Amino acid sequence: MVKVELSGAAGFFTAAGPDYALAALAHKTLSERSGLGADFTGWFELPQRIKDTELPAILEAAKTIRSRSKALVVIGIGGSYLGARGAIELLKPIPGENDPRVFFVGNGLSPDALCDTLRLLGDKDFDVNVISKSGTTLEPAVSFRIFRGLLEKKYGDKADEHIFATTDARRGVLKSLADAHGWPCFVVPDDVGGRFSVLSAVGLLPMAVAGIDVQKVIDAAIAEFKALDLRSPENPAWQYAAARQHLYNKGYGVEILGCYEPSFRFMAEWWKQLYGESEGKDHKGIFPASVEFTADLHSMGQYIQQGPRMLMESIVRFDKCRDTLPFPESEDNADGLNYIAGRDLSEICEVAADAVKQAHIDGGVPNIVIRVPRRDEEGFAALVCFFEIACAISGYMSGVNPFDQPGVEAYKKNMFRMLGKPGAV
Ligand code: PA5
Repeated sequence: MVKVELSGAAGFFTAAGPDYALAALAHKTLSERSGLGADFTGWFELPQRIKDTELPAILEAAKTIRSRSKALVVIGIGGSYLGARGAIELLKPIPGENDPRVFFVGNGLSPDALCDTLRLLGDKDFDVNVISKSGTTLEPAVSFRIFRGLLEKKYGDKADEHIFATTDARRGVLKSLADAHGWPCFVVPDDVGGRFSVLSAVGLLPMAVAGIDVQKVIDAAIAEFKALDLRSPENPAWQYAAARQHLYNKGYGVEILGCYEPSFRFMAEWWKQLYGESEGKDHKGIFPASVEFTADLHSMGQYIQQGPRMLMESIVRFDKCRDTLPFPESEDNADGLNYIAGRDLSEICEVAADAVKQAHIDGGVPNIVIRVPRRDEEGFAALVCFFEIACAISGYMSGVNPFDQPGVEAYKKNMFRMLGKPGAV
């Protein structure tokens, strides 16, 4: 399990402190499936379900792709892509010699970005994993048509063998296309919303192709969800959810998630969707933002230290780095850095993190630390399970339905009307 440290936030709490009774009630509502959006709470059983059903087929598909292709093009947007990208950048930021490159497309409508990916793909052998629960989202559908065309040009009547679809079990355009063409299909379960789907085939197939041990991820996630069922203020998910709700009620309306590992960048994007889409409704909700430390201390650091006092920060810290890098001694010490010589860079980074924490607290920014043992499969699973449970609890604590996203339809309606889609109003 991750550990949550609230010592840097405690000074900002009122005497009553975070409302653990409300967190307990929210957790009960979630586990009894008696709250708003209860039909979309299948995600906390997902790891065990996947292990009992689709996991062998996911591993088999990944094996096929890895054995014949130099690239996998993953087509999806929002919850149909951010988790896989977060995992791959966190755990496999540099592909191994035998790992296919994973390209993410369909997450925007920029022709430049798409053409750049096409150029990078070049004439590499590739497979496509198209992911869309609804099967109708415009951005991935546009990319899919383009990449299908490319597959047909490259592989002729074998093109269909290079397509893997992850979509609804029964409904939608993508499901109908997959059935008509015989593409292998994986399921986005009915009771799991996109942003909670990373531990289904949505996340697992791209991760497995990238060379991540998804069996380890799933086994760890099963254990994590069990551990996070703890009904006590010792539960890190309660601590995080209750602390951020408490601070929000005191006027801290923006939460910045930070990490000292640049490879965490897309995990932060995944987190932003998870919390933003789950909590930002009914004209309330904490605005989720993210920073990468120490880089952003030299850009956003000024604002964090001295801007309007509405920020809280949550910092993900990995206890152990993957590598060691002792800082070398220099004979002439011309750069004046010998005072840190002989120390490992990880130790220097830890000191920097402690220094930043203290400065931000002194500047009026409540600080929550989320400690993860290592940047590995278990650490990834621990983060996903923790953030998902805490998000649901936090959403219920604030009185919203954490599992719907009615607001995202507004732009689509306008766009379809302006593009002249038949029937659009
Ligand atoms: O969390 C969500 O539900 C959304 O982010 C969706 O995942 C996103 O809009 C993509 O939808 P779909 O998978 O239907 O293409």
